[in-house]
Amino acid sequence: MDLALTEEQRAVQKTAREYAERRLMPAAHARDKESTFPEAELRELGDLGLLGVAVPEELGGAGAGVVAYSLAMQELARGDASVAVAVSVTNMVAELISRMGDEGQRTRHVPRLVSGQAVCGAFALSEPQAGSDPAGLTTRAERTAGGWRLTGTKQWITSGDRAGVMVVWAMTEPGSGHKGITAFLVEGGAKGLIVGRLEDKMGLHGSSTAQLVLDGVEVGDDAVLGGVSGGFRLAMMALDGGRIGIASQAIGIARGALEAAVRYAGERVQFGVPILKHQAVGNMLADAATWLDAATLMTLRAAALKESGQSFGDVAAMAKLFATEKAGLICDIALQVHGGYGYTTDFPIERACRDVRVTRIYEGTSEIQRIVIARSLLARAARDGR
Ligand code: CAA
Repeated sequence: MDLALTEEQRAVQKTAREYAERRLMPAAHARDKESTFPEAELRELGDLGLLGVAVPEELGGAGAGVVAYSLAMQELARGDASVAVAVSVTNMVAELISRMGDEGQRTRHVPRLVSGQAVCGAFALSEPQAGSDPAGLTTRAERTAGGWRLTGTKQWITSGDRAGVMVVWAMTEPGSGHKGITAFLVEGGAKGLIVGRLEDKMGLHGSSTAQLVLDGVEVGDDAVLGGVSGGFRLAMMALDGGRIGIASQAIGIARGALEAAVRYAGERVQFGVPILKHQAVGNMLADAATWLDAATLMTLRAAALKESGQSFGDVAAMAKLFATEKAGLICDIALQVHGGYGYTTDFPIERACRDVRVTRIYEGTSEIQRIVIARSLLARAARDGR
């Protein structure tokens, strides 16, 4: 088992780290305070090849693979988690179109997404009444003479008000549950696409989260992605991969918090010694470092499985479950180590605690990850007879 990174993976990691330290970290506090969307940064990331790390080169991506993508996401999230989530969704949408789109869809949308020309992508699956159970969505797509008319409301859509390209899931055969769902490609600014409420969130203030109202949005047949009624499987496939991105985001946030806590504990003197020398503090940081290492290995393993074309959905769910739950604990420990200072906005730890919380919710809650893992245990037991 070779755990060493390739030269290309190390190069992507280095590019992402340098960019995050130079451009993201210094402005992260202001972006959080002022809720500024990182449009210029997304375009710069497109120029650097970091919007489509895992997207094939012939479509404008870096073609560096899923492990490199995870490494880049970790670095960007360490710099600013708000920027990282926009990158993660863009990469997920670009990968989905690269894989499932026809030639016209691939060449029209993917280069715009990964270059930053479309600013970013959005994944419009959830609805007010259909979050963990997307098969219950009610957005309708009805046949017209030249294509389809989409009507309904989408909720919790990351970058929904900014994305140049989005995938929208709608019911084409009402009453058929997941078998009647189709994925459509919709461009930002389409007639009838109305940006509703922008959520006022606990964290990730530099990322926008929009309600989208589809008031009779007309699209052609060429907007159908992956075939009529084939949409649910597409969403599940995309989310399997997306969960590697969110696990990586959680790791990046936690790594930044742990580094800050270790630095602080080495400098802060109480009872005549740096607090790191007090066992109570050292033990907390040791646990945090151990969880972070395990989360990183699990996530890179899921990425390596996906990259080599092997089944990875259950491993990605385990990685997301473990990484996001432990990242929350690590950020909490980092705040505790900072004492009263950690509870103020003078230190970045309180932002990490707010930003990391949603990683246990979006792209499948921790409870959904457990469903995915438990179902795979059952399937394996039935297959192997043990
Ligand atoms: N890959 C491919 N196909 C899959 C699949 C996968 N991982 N999982 C299920 N399927 C297929 C099944 O094979 C089945 O197909 P057939 O009917 O042809 O046999 C079909 O999909 C239905 O499968 P299930 O009966 O297992 O589906 P379910 O309704 O019970 O749901 C679930 C399973 C895994 C719990 C799913 O509902 C799920 O993942 N829920 C969470 C949704 C989620 O993550 N939402 C997040 C929103 S997006 C977001 O957060 C984006 C953002 O902006 C950040």
